[in-house]
Amino acid sequence: MTTTTENLAVAGAVGAAHTRLEGRDKVTGTARFAGEVPFAELAHGWLVLSTIARGRIRSVESAPVLALPGVLAVLHHDNAPRVNGDYPGPLGPPDPILQVFQHDRVPHVGWPVALVVAETPEQAREAAERLVVRYDEEPHDVAFSAGRPGMYTPENSPTVAAETAKGDLDAELTASAVVVDAEYTTPEEHHSPLEPHAAMARWDNGRLEVVDSNQGSRFVAEELAQLFSLDPGSVRVRSEHVGGGFGSKATRPHAVLAAMAATVLHRPVRVVLTRRQMFSVVGYRSPTVQRVRLGADADGRLRAFDHQAESLTSTVYEFVERSANFGRPMYDAAAHHTVNRVVPLDVPTPTWMRAPGEAPGSFALESALDELAEKCGMDPIELRARNEPDVGPVSGLPFSSRRMLACFHEGARRFGWADRDPRPGTRREGRWLLGTGTAAATFPSGVAPSTAAVTAEADGTFTVRITAADIGTGARTALALIAADALEVAPERIHIKIADSDFGPAMIAGGSMGTRSWAWAITAAARELREQLALGGSIPPQGITARADTGEAVRALAKKERHSFGAQFAEVAVDVTSGEVRVRRMLGIFAAGRIVNPLTARSQFIGGMTWGLSMALHEEAARDQASGGHVGADLAGYHFAAHADVPPIEADWVDDPDPDDPVGIKGIGEVGIVGAAAAIANAVWHATGVRHRHLPIRPDRVL
Ligand code: MOS
Repeated sequence: MTTTTENLAVAGAVGAAHTRLEGRDKVTGTARFAGEVPFAELAHGWLVLSTIARGRIRSVESAPVLALPGVLAVLHHDNAPRVNGDYPGPLGPPDPILQVFQHDRVPHVGWPVALVVAETPEQAREAAERLVVRYDEEPHDVAFSAGRPGMYTPENSPTVAAETAKGDLDAELTASAVVVDAEYTTPEEHHSPLEPHAAMARWDNGRLEVVDSNQGSRFVAEELAQLFSLDPGSVRVRSEHVGGGFGSKATRPHAVLAAMAATVLHRPVRVVLTRRQMFSVVGYRSPTVQRVRLGADADGRLRAFDHQAESLTSTVYEFVERSANFGRPMYDAAAHHTVNRVVPLDVPTPTWMRAPGEAPGSFALESALDELAEKCGMDPIELRARNEPDVGPVSGLPFSSRRMLACFHEGARRFGWADRDPRPGTRREGRWLLGTGTAAATFPSGVAPSTAAVTAEADGTFTVRITAADIGTGARTALALIAADALEVAPERIHIKIADSDFGPAMIAGGSMGTRSWAWAITAAARELREQLALGGSIPPQGITARADTGEAVRALAKKERHSFGAQFAEVAVDVTSGEVRVRRMLGIFAAGRIVNPLTARSQFIGGMTWGLSMALHEEAARDQASGGHVGADLAGYHFAAHADVPPIEADWVDDPDPDDPVGIKGIGEVGIVGAAAAIANAVWHATGVRHRHLPIRPDRVL
């Protein structure tokens, strides 16, 4: 069959609900994840982590373990191949934890010290647990607190300032009729995706082939090539199905370990991290201490705005949880100051975790706004409306679009906000005190260069190839809908192939930028293909392929304040006898660009809001000062919201197509969690009359 544009039907797929293309495979178990793809001759690596928080490895006593059944090798700092650590990383300097077994220094509990490889996972685990590692221990310091010694303001990153300042803060605070000055804290929090990190590596005809669970196979391939000094073309990474990522699935040690062991042993090796290992090997969210000072006139207009956020990093890598960034596009004031500070401690390196910066930052600032509204005797939504800026408060740039107030208006209407008695502690149902709260949300809307290829097949279908990652978001389905519309065909005629580094450079599933970046490339390739098809002629057996690289177009994008926005609402019941907080309902209304697939987009928002609930009431990793390690580093000890904790959650959106994006997308991955914890904390205040400035709001803190 020959196909030209003349006989293609207009589709209109974007904007209509579609179930996941791979949904059936996933629920029937047909979909294979990285830890379960079968390979002949597969050997299994089991990671051994340091038990001390600081010091040196004196010896790794491999001999007894090598005599155990099935054990093939013990890799450690004395015998591991050297890797290259000197390269520009894809997202900043390379994380030293990827340079496994290169020295004897231990910078934190849970640092990789050995990999035991055996014929079966059970043999590897048995041997790993029996492996004796001796250390020379040194004193460690894991104590994080406000303004502690060693805290510093980091250098600006190429795109983000560590500190912003305008106006005379002291003068404006003094001139303010109403002042809020409060300290908020959030604990160490962990992303622990359902599917643990796993990778299989093998050499195949001179190429290193890796089957991994990650958020961007091209980034992982390029980083592995750098680490092992390989030609980039000789590394292929695939990541077909991923059971969650949330920022934890960039290049991580498991993939490096698998590649290293496969190289040494000349056979395929798989490394799967355990749930416990994930707590120290794949990053987490730093605890934060945040001081917020707001000064306003009696009518609620801000004069002074100060947000100072502190977080920790490891001694080997500087990662900054930029909580103070949240307020930069949000509220203006004559004096406006934001700063992110950080202190290196003997702990694992934190990393991006869903809405890095904005999640904890919004808890502090949106709680402080609520306190200001209370002091001004104003409705919290009215307070935000009064401080709505015309341009970016720090940048002075225009907004691409800003429909935050539309979110509040729609949310207030649907939540029944107008009926709320603003006085706290006035609603009671038996032993439950009831309250409602609200908070604003925002997250940057970004786009990064990507490449895509679209092929018109001889049978009338189209094949899209792009190194996208579907980490459970429904990205694969969204991209098929986008391709269908770009080609003006029904989605059933689209074959979508993703998550293979051989498909070329592309953005990762991260920063709420994945689908937008990939959609742009697919749209551009589809346009190019249609031009080729318009020339007429029949399609050869191998099809006709058009490619696109959006680098130039993305870099040409005018500088603007580009963000998604939202309004969060929550109703809580607080048990006066036990201190338990139960969320009764949540509503989030978002202005987050054009929504490609309402079905999966709603799930994304609800997922983020659920995590916000969990952040508000449950999550907290406990670090033991004496050992430097976690207490209860598993999903029994790390408490998070279960189904019974989660009430009906509604998420919806207002129309907000991005004016400068070919599809109108802004990105929806992270904004759902932003502000959710503050809305709940504000509702707890409304229920009880008591402010909770430290998360999680545990029963013992409420009583
Ligand atoms: Mo997201 S924290 O950028 O994976």
